[in-house]
Amino acid sequence: MPFTIAIDGPAASGKGTIARALARHFGFAHLDTGLLYRAVGAMGGDPVAAARALVPSDLDRDDLRSAEAGQAASRVAAIPEVRAALIDFQRRFARTEPGAVLDGRDIGTVICPEAELKLYVTANDAVRARRRALELGDDEVRILGELRERDARDAARAVAPMRPAKDALLLDTSEMAIDEAVAHAIASAKEAGA
Ligand code: CDP
Ligand code: CDP
Repeated sequence: MPFTIAIDGPAASGKGTIARALARHFGFAHLDTGLLYRAVGAMGGDPVAAARALVPSDLDRDDLRSAEAGQAASRVAAIPEVRAALIDFQRRFARTEPGAVLDGRDIGTVICPEAELKLYVTANDAVRARRRALELGDDEVRILGELRERDARDAARAVAPMRPAKDALLLDTSEMAIDEAVAHAIASAKEAGA
């Protein structure tokens, strides 16, 4: 049985950084599920058809990291048929041996409710905006507005809203350097049996 780690949380909370570090540490596969929605949003046209036709090479586009791609992703992510079309791929990935780390918004609640470890990574929104603005070389105030709008939409949608699973461990990285956040996550994974 593979070991599955589910990581969820709001935009720019550090999920991806922690997920990549966990995967490297334990020799597990990693899937940034936000890229699936970003790719669907970036394709234009009918998002349901785009989600049904998605292939892994669609995730390699260079323009998926932008704030605009994030907004487009969060709009298509509220469409139930788009989410349904992406479930099988994510669940198959989660069964990669010897283990897999998936990060997103609904991994612990919908995609992998049986995951061996569920983490919900947060940080206050000013910190998240500062980190993302540094990363993208963009304006902090503009990014803060963008993150708040996206988080509100992601938390309010009817299907698979962003929220911690009941048995998720909360990791607030507001005051943590990356190394410290990663060390906490590795310790939690070891405790869970990884
Ligand atoms: O995947 P998610 O959008 O949740 O966040 P991320 O891309 O992992 O992290 C957003 C930015 O914050 C990146 O530039 C990270 O290097 C940085 N970061 C940080 O400065 N301190 C942390 N404890 C975690 C992430
Ligand atoms: O990196 P960041 O946290 O800014 O965003 P992301 O993880 O790339 O996700 C982009 C958007 O995709 C989110 O705002 C959500 O609307 C959507 N998403 C989702 O609905 N479910 C997931 N499992 C992952 C992302």
